[in-house]
Amino acid sequence: MIEDVIDKCPRIESGRLVLRKWEERDLDGLVEMNADARVMEFFPAVMPRVESEIMLQRLMVKQDQLGFACPVVEDLESGRFLGFCGLNVPTYPIPLPFDPCIEIGWRLIPDAWGKGIAQEAARTWIRFGFETLQAEEIVSFTTVTNVRSQKLMQRLHMMTDAAEDFDHPMLEPDHPLVRHVLYRLNKDCFASVLQN
Ligand SMILES: CC(C)(COP(=O)(O)OP(=O)(O)OC[C@H]1O[C@@H](n2cnc3c(N)ncnc32)[C@H](O)[C@@H]1OP(=O)(O)O)[C@@H](O)C(=O)NCCC(=O)NCCS
Repeated sequence: MIEDVIDKCPRIESGRLVLRKWEERDLDGLVEMNADARVMEFFPAVMPRVESEIMLQRLMVKQDQLGFACPVVEDLESGRFLGFCGLNVPTYPIPLPFDPCIEIGWRLIPDAWGKGIAQEAARTWIRFGFETLQAEEIVSFTTVTNVRSQKLMQRLHMMTDAAEDFDHPMLEPDHPLVRHVLYRLNKDCFASVLQN
């Protein structure tokens, strides 16, 4: 079956970046990023080292099972860990209202913000998702107050509809971050606006 021969997360070099699978050596970078209050502003809390260790193990198990899990972004020149950006299949214990789906998600260290790095990585993986994995649609979601993340979704020509706003099932109903927006990009839209 063709499915078996596709590497769903190949190592890709884009202009300034290496996009690749998670490895054990990414732990220190992940720990530092997840402990940064600026990075975690729109998450319930910063993460202590032990939680990042668990997160890395989960990501590596998932990429073994599904082929990809929010791949690593690395600086091409220096090899520095910049964060993650890429495709993922959400597997929360409680399903999302729009499951099943392929999402594109991102989290970068502040030094990598404001340089178009997330956009460069996201465009590469979106192209891969539609052209190689033959995805019908790629979604992204974030809390309503995360404007930086939504601006990136808009730069990628993803579309939102307020009627699809939802409460994240993993947060308490009265949590300040519970309300989320959903952005969608289908393959026809990708073909018309993102291919060049
Ligand atoms: C969300 C996040 C990835 C967005 O990063 P970002 O750097 O703003 O996004 P982009 O890669 O699209 O970069 C765009 C910015 O770079 C600037 N830029 C500079 N050089 C550029 C270039 N060569 N190409 C494109 N944009 C460039 C743009 O002008 C824009 O700046 P602006 O936002 O001030 O207008 C980042 O803020 C982050 O990791 N946040 C913390 C984690 C988080 O909230 N994740 C999302 C949870 S759902």
